[in-house]
Amino acid sequence: MSADESLFRTADPAGKIIVAIDGPAGAGKSTIARHLARHFGLLNLETGAMYRAFALKALRAGLSLDERESLEGLAAETVIRLEPGKQEPGEEENRVLLDGEDVTGLIRNQTVTNAASRVSIIPAIRAWMVRLQQQVGAGGGVVMEGRDIGTVVFPQAEVKIFLDAAPEVRGIRRYDQMGPEPAQQPDEVIRDLRARDERDRNRADSPLKPAPDAILLDSTHLTLEEVVAAAEAIVAARLVRAAD
Ligand code: DC
Repeated sequence: MSADESLFRTADPAGKIIVAIDGPAGAGKSTIARHLARHFGLLNLETGAMYRAFALKALRAGLSLDERESLEGLAAETVIRLEPGKQEPGEEENRVLLDGEDVTGLIRNQTVTNAASRVSIIPAIRAWMVRLQQQVGAGGGVVMEGRDIGTVVFPQAEVKIFLDAAPEVRGIRRYDQMGPEPAQQPDEVIRDLRARDERDRNRADSPLKPAPDAILLDSTHLTLEEVVAAAEAIVAARLVRAAD
């Protein structure tokens, strides 16, 4: 059955759809993915959290992030589970279980952020993550957010959005989210973001790039409300086409 036919046969077209949201760090993917999940009644899955959980394990084990073989050995004895958040505002964050331990609150700091970007360049780690992500999203009815969802994890996704923005704008948005006592200065945030961009876009295996059939959404000059409205319109148009 083609993707179109399978959607057509679903009573609730949003029920089986896969929405892939890819783009660089700080482009607003999580915010948009959460909004779309709530709006269309989909599960929201943040794949970056899985790379982060594994990076946390590697850091705890004291492994050098350049030692591929050791990291691959560690991966072989690691169980990561990603559980979708709820659809109520404020409750959307995914729960991430690392060998059964809930590490959701431990994976957003700068050390883990940089380590996640570094372990994610290793092909064997990526292959493992992609398999897990395909399993959790297999039933459809999901918004999945990451770097390679539309290109590698679900190339057959019904909707693909590539969300981008200028690095300076992404950096300042990140800085503004850091609250009254930011851990970094704006120029440091932008510098770290550029370094992550560099690694994500230039790695040999599944580099960050838009799928040929992705819709590009550049939020550099848009407000959050405008980006949300645009993303919503993209998904809604696909659902209308599927129901026709
Ligand atoms: O989206 P995030 O910032 O939580 O992702 C953390 C790191 O994981 C990011 O630097 C790149 C990597 N990543 C990836 O390579 N592929 C994905 N699908 C998701 C994240």
